Amino acid sequence: MQISNVQLINLPKVFDERGNLSFLEANKHIPFEIKRSYWIYDVPGGEQRGGHAYITTEEFIVALSGSFDVLIDDGRNKQRISLNRSYYGLYIPKGIWRSMENFSTNSLAFIVASTVYSEHDYQRDYSQFLMLNNASQES
Ligand code: TYD
Repeated sequence: MQISNVQLINLPKVFDERGNLSFLEANKHIPFEIKRSYWIYDVPGGEQRGGHAYITTEEFIVALSGSFDVLIDDGRNKQRISLNRSYYGLYIPKGIWRSMENFSTNSLAFIVASTVYSEHDYQRDYSQFLMLNNASQES
């Protein structure tokens, strides 16, 4: 997998003077079936989350509140993407190393995932990730 497969996706935004509304539907606004959602909050200043890849899980990450950076890495190229609006998000396919940092005070990261939680789907060893991913990109 390559970071060119990572995609910023704009979500629908329904403007309303009572307050705006955005939404997402599986297989329509994001390219997978949703099996799980989770959120990251109360992140102390300077902390980093993530720091792993998934073997099969696809995710879509939205900054529902505040801002943070997502660092993506396919083993060859790296990119930093800042998320700071609730009406777009970042689609990350399987096989991409990611971490999240620079969380603003009271930021809220909302993530939908294509799988239920399983520790077996994590690649937490960066050198192993590099070996597997570079091998698969060469073949
Ligand atoms: P982890 O995915 O490692 O956090 P990060 O967002 O920093 O990558 O998850 C931290 C712990 O939380 C993990 O060891 C188990 C638990 N967890 C669940 O039980 N279910 C989940 O859906 C997630 C994402 C994590």
